[in-house]
Amino acid sequence: MDAVRNPYVPGAGRKPSALVGRDAELAAWSVALQRCERGITDQPLVLFGLRGVGKTVLLTQLRHDAQARNWLVVQVEAGAGRSLRELLGEGLYEPLSDIAKPSAGQRLLRALRTAVSFKASYDAAGTWTFGLDLADASGGGADSGILETDLKRIIKDVALAAGESHVGLAVLIDEAQDLSSDELTTLAVVAQSAAQDNWPVLFAMAGLPRLPQTLAEAKSYTERFQFSHIERLSTEDAKAAILRPADAEGVSWAPDALELVVNSSGRYPYFIQQFGQEAWNVATGSQIEQPDARLGVALGQNKLDSGFFRSRWDRTTAAEKKYLRAMCPEGDIGVGSGEVANRLRKTINALGPVRANLIHKGLVYAPDHGIIAFTVPGMTEFIGRQPE
Ligand SMILES: Nc1ncnc2c1ncn2[C@@H]1O[C@H](COP(=O)(O)OP(=O)(O)OP(=O)(O)O)[C@@H](O)[C@H]1O
Ligand SMILES: [Mg+2]
Repeated sequence: MDAVRNPYVPGAGRKPSALVGRDAELAAWSVALQRCERGITDQPLVLFGLRGVGKTVLLTQLRHDAQARNWLVVQVEAGAGRSLRELLGEGLYEPLSDIAKPSAGQRLLRALRTAVSFKASYDAAGTWTFGLDLADASGGGADSGILETDLKRIIKDVALAAGESHVGLAVLIDEAQDLSSDELTTLAVVAQSAAQDNWPVLFAMAGLPRLPQTLAEAKSYTERFQFSHIERLSTEDAKAAILRPADAEGVSWAPDALELVVNSSGRYPYFIQQFGQEAWNVATGSQIEQPDARLGVALGQNKLDSGFFRSRWDRTTAAEKKYLRAMCPEGDIGVGSGEVANRLRKTINALGPVRANLIHKGLVYAPDHGIIAFTVPGMTEFIGRQPE
């Protein structure tokens, strides 16, 4: 079928034609935004789940919902060796410069001046002016070098500036498991101050299944977060994720074709998009039939193998590959790290660094004490397809 009209979009962070199965999270966010506008600040939202399950697109939808209410929004992705300070500083520049104008109120002028000082705290060479003379504005002082002090000041001043326009500030952080434990602790402390004093600011973080644990280890008052486990779709939602985009293009799915894709995908959103895309491309009529679906799944599997899975596999060392292999066949649900050590004829301690590196690379996590599991659904089968 016409590839130009293909509505399926496999790929990290790509907005699906139909975002299904996330109504509860979206409704909770909508309530939080409205409560915040009325002066009550709720706890940070923490979305966690496996690779490809749809955390980034959900976070991005939260951003759009906040923007639709004219909120100031900063969305950043942790990792790549950048500090939270720098990520937030750079992320705030655009939304702030969008609203900076000569007629700005006192609070906005103050926020801009504070932002200028925050920038100076990590970038001695760069300065911002926002095209305004801020010499007479109050604010500044977000450059003490102490993250908690500086972050509190910038978040508070920008949130209060947003409040001047009866909206708030939304701070969205993807891949949050890659923040350092100091940064997570600081975020928790700042969010706590915000909630206590009702600064109009909401935080949402997304990350791998180890994020709740990482937050707990950062001693960051985990009870003060709202956790939401983002899971694969229900059968009904998986069907909707396939049918709704096709329907919008006047294309239908034969029931057995639909069932095949739902089952082969394990109801994981990334796989649904990949298989849907390939099945669409091979189909010829205005209905996708079972043989199209079968071929689509096979072609989709090849694409996943050479992209989604391979990109992660190729980032591991030979020792790490051995460890991952030893985690099969139970790796998707979890296997004792002692058992993995037995299989490799090594001690748990000797394998500690390999295990730690794999966790750091985001390939595995510990669902429970002494248990290790893949963060990537279907990794077991993929490894089985790789020659030793
Ligand atoms: N609720 C959903 N309904 C339909 N498709 C979805 C849904 N959520 C995500 N997808 C699709 O799944 C794919 C992966 O989504 P996304 O990148 O958000 O996952 P992720 O959880 O952030 O993965 P990672 O942990 O690798 O960053 C994308 O192709 C996206 O379009
Ligand atoms: Mg993501």
